[in-house]
Amino acid sequence: MAMARTRHGNGGLLNHPRTATGFDQLFHALRSRRPPRVAELPGEPRWRAEFVARRVEGPRITLQEFGYASHELMSGYGRVDDTALVGPVRILTPEGLDCLAEVCDRLEPAAGASRFITTRRVRSADVMSAFINNMIRDRAFLLACSRMAGVPLIPHPLRIPTAQINYFEGRGRPEIVKWHRDGMDYVLTIQLDGYEDYDGGRFTYFQGRTDDFRGVREGDPRLREAPCGERGATLFLHGSRIFHAVTPVTRGRRVTLVVSFFCPYFARQDSNTFWHLAADDGIPATIPNWLRLKWPVRDPAMDFSLRAGSPVITWEDIRA
Ligand SMILES: [Fe+2]
Repeated sequence: MAMARTRHGNGGLLNHPRTATGFDQLFHALRSRRPPRVAELPGEPRWRAEFVARRVEGPRITLQEFGYASHELMSGYGRVDDTALVGPVRILTPEGLDCLAEVCDRLEPAAGASRFITTRRVRSADVMSAFINNMIRDRAFLLACSRMAGVPLIPHPLRIPTAQINYFEGRGRPEIVKWHRDGMDYVLTIQLDGYEDYDGGRFTYFQGRTDDFRGVREGDPRLREAPCGERGATLFLHGSRIFHAVTPVTRGRRVTLVVSFFCPYFARQDSNTFWHLAADDGIPATIPNWLRLKWPVRDPAMDFSLRAGSPVITWEDIRA
């Protein structure tokens, strides 16, 4: 797929809501509740390793091109963690994409409304769907994601935010993603619909440092639209260092799967914060989840417990 980075020609991008920070974020944490889960999806399609596309390649922009200095970035093992954005790529075959779209449609009754970042979404989708669970723990899938990121990845051990499905429809209250940066460092978004299926719903980002976003004015050329118009288009994003948003869907339906990853080699530098998570899922659901991540990270020998159920990708693998 060709990379055609375009400036966003429409005005009003900065009128798009921004997600809460500081005390407002605390307020969200006190009000938020984890959405209900469905126990299982009887008769869902079976994941197959051949659903991963053979060549997963796309244009790459570095974090230095977003204004970050190399010394501010995570580094180790002879590598600077400087991938900002990769894509669009195709990570699934057409058949794999059809199966994933079917699974996401069937999970929609479990979607909960949120006022924090994304208006309507399913959290922990891999806990409810064997297809999604097996997909994000498939070695070929993880290897493709790790090569895009340039660092070895596993599905994020936090579990609740690991696989999230976002639903947008062009009726009633506008369904959007507010301007935000992620708690997660490594985030993959798979588009399950194309521009022929909906109007609006543009994946927009600020090609600058997150601390420069506050001073941005309308029409700034660093406000860009990612070219995700084709069904199946997939973007890798260094989510914690990039402000991004999805504009309101005004017609049709748009569904995306968002998968968050973790680099075990940079475990102690993971960007997530308790309050960012709690604002999405509420404090009671976040505490056990948070402890499960933070206790093993304190002790490198406990690293394997973070990898539960995930193949190991090494630095050698991503260089090969
Ligand atoms: Fe995000």
